[in-house]
Amino acid sequence: MKTKKLIATVIASVLAIATLAGCGSTSKEIKFGTNAEFPPFEFIAANGTIGEYDGIDIAIAKKIGEDIGQTAVIENMEFDSLLVALQNGQIDAVIAGMTVTEERAESVDFSTPYYQATQVIITKEGSGITSAADLADKFTAVVQGYTGETCIIELGYKYESFKKGTECIMELVNSKCDAVVIDSATAAKYVADNEGLVIVEDSEAFGNEEYAIAVQKGNTELLNKINKSIEKMLSDGTIADLGDKYCGQ
Ligand code: ARG
Repeated sequence: MKTKKLIATVIASVLAIATLAGCGSTSKEIKFGTNAEFPPFEFIAANGTIGEYDGIDIAIAKKIGEDIGQTAVIENMEFDSLLVALQNGQIDAVIAGMTVTEERAESVDFSTPYYQATQVIITKEGSGITSAADLADKFTAVVQGYTGETCIIELGYKYESFKKGTECIMELVNSKCDAVVIDSATAAKYVADNEGLVIVEDSEAFGNEEYAIAVQKGNTELLNKINKSIEKMLSDGTIADLGDKYCGQ
């Protein structure tokens, strides 16, 4: 009798544990890698959307998590490390204002694009720089590994690479360089925050770029789920609203 009761108790507790474990697995985490040095897409904030992280991408990541029934968590790292971390399986996806390029698409798969951007020039008011060609005899700061760096390399002009956008802006503010080439929305943020800087556009020199989420090559299961979520957010206006909210119009 006693043994039977004991067995029943053991079975009951095993079942309880199994149920708890089952619960845990439905609230599984999806790990997004980013580089939180890229306002308005990702930056550190006192009260962020996910922990200390905030921005358009972070809000998108959170919504994707909700849509696919997993908790979105953020792993912040250097921009240059993101694709390697993805390939290693350290993160499940990259959301980092990342431009789709042929080179990157060789090592990872990209989602449906969710944002259109372009490179622009930031310079000081009165610098006389009005086009990309004007950078030929100037000194330009770019961020290492960003598409802005690729652009200046392709143009063949003199440049220096820095780890962060804010470092490039400091160089410019302190007149250590003549210009910064960086993504449009991020440039707008920097110009709004630093007096005396202006944006110069050159749509002939700098083409359109599309931001998308990257997953491991061949991870179609996750890619399909992400695409479904992004397509919903594009069609119901969620992403446009996030743009308005974080770009401060
Ligand atoms: N769009 C550019 C690129 O893909 C810059 C992205 C930088 N993103 C970031 N989270 N730091 O190269």
